Amino acid sequence: MKKQILVVGGAGYVGSHTVIKLLEKGYEPIILDNLSTGHKESITGGLFYECDLANIAHVRDIFKKHNIEAVMHFGANCYVGESVVNPHKYFKNNVSNTINLLEVMLEAGIKKFVFSSSAATYGNPVKIPIDEAHPQVPCNPYGLSKLFIEQIVSTYERAYGIKHIYLRYFNAAGADPEGRIGEDHYPETHIIPLLILTALGIKKQFTVFGNDYETSDGTCIRDYVHVMDIADAHVKALEFMDTEKRSEEFNLGSSMGYSVNEIISKVEQVSGKKIPVEYTERREGDPAILIAGCKKAREILGWRPHYSIEKTIMTAWEWHKKYPKGFKDVK
Ligand code: UFG
Repeated sequence: MKKQILVVGGAGYVGSHTVIKLLEKGYEPIILDNLSTGHKESITGGLFYECDLANIAHVRDIFKKHNIEAVMHFGANCYVGESVVNPHKYFKNNVSNTINLLEVMLEAGIKKFVFSSSAATYGNPVKIPIDEAHPQVPCNPYGLSKLFIEQIVSTYERAYGIKHIYLRYFNAAGADPEGRIGEDHYPETHIIPLLILTALGIKKQFTVFGNDYETSDGTCIRDYVHVMDIADAHVKALEFMDTEKRSEEFNLGSSMGYSVNEIISKVEQVSGKKIPVEYTERREGDPAILIAGCKKAREILGWRPHYSIEKTIMTAWEWHKKYPKGFKDVK
């Protein structure tokens, strides 16, 4: 019998790529998504339930139908800017709905939880690279919502024995190398898809938010990590919980920093198109530099990223070229 893994938010960007990895590794993903930001077309296998965590009776029903071994939780609203103007949405959908999920897990006696956390839980870095021991002082409600969940789950571990792995992603990027699925947010706010849409002529120009940062070329530096590498870490986290039976937290990044200007040139190289660019003021809440220290994931989880930045951009380019309107173009 295949092991059934509940994948909450499995129709979203990172969740859907993780479903591919779970299927490859012989697991049976049971996907739960309310499709508020996810796409039905991104589901490549497993069993799918359109379900909102707010509807605890429905969640309970799904748990009763299956023999769930572990829960992976990707379901969240994830726009930093929106979280600043509408924090209630983030605390309700991210935090309160996760408490529903945990409640049903407790009832069902499921004690393995892999959580999609974020570099946003660290806030403004006090040192670079950022390792897992870095202080967690989020500077926006999105990051705070992810940190609250970490703290709730850690408290539940002490009280109820729920084991967890927190995976704190830096900048997830790229697409399935076989071109089945990719990144499709509405509205799109992320740098790589926006640059590609500009290279494709769908957007007129790309706006750089600030070139007066204390970095080599004045633009922000980020650590981009391929979504399939992130997916791979989730499967490794499941295996780790089975063999080691303890909780951990890991950063997931490439440990390489690229400035916004460098990313623009790389997308130009991959696409062969000149991208029209304008420079404006800084976007509120953007730290100058975020680079992950990933020694812990390498040493304890045996994880390392396999995709270079060029390969990452290439997979994203191929997907957007094939589906310029995203999943709306997928038949
Ligand atoms: N950028 C631009 N112009 C744009 C979009 C982005 O200049 O139109 C810049 C940003 O200022 C930033 C960099 O490109 O310096 C990357 O921005 P993204 O919006 O692609 O990603 P973020 O670093 O803001 O956010 C990502 C995730 C969040 C997560 C955060 C953790 O998308 O979910 O990393 O720090 F919270």
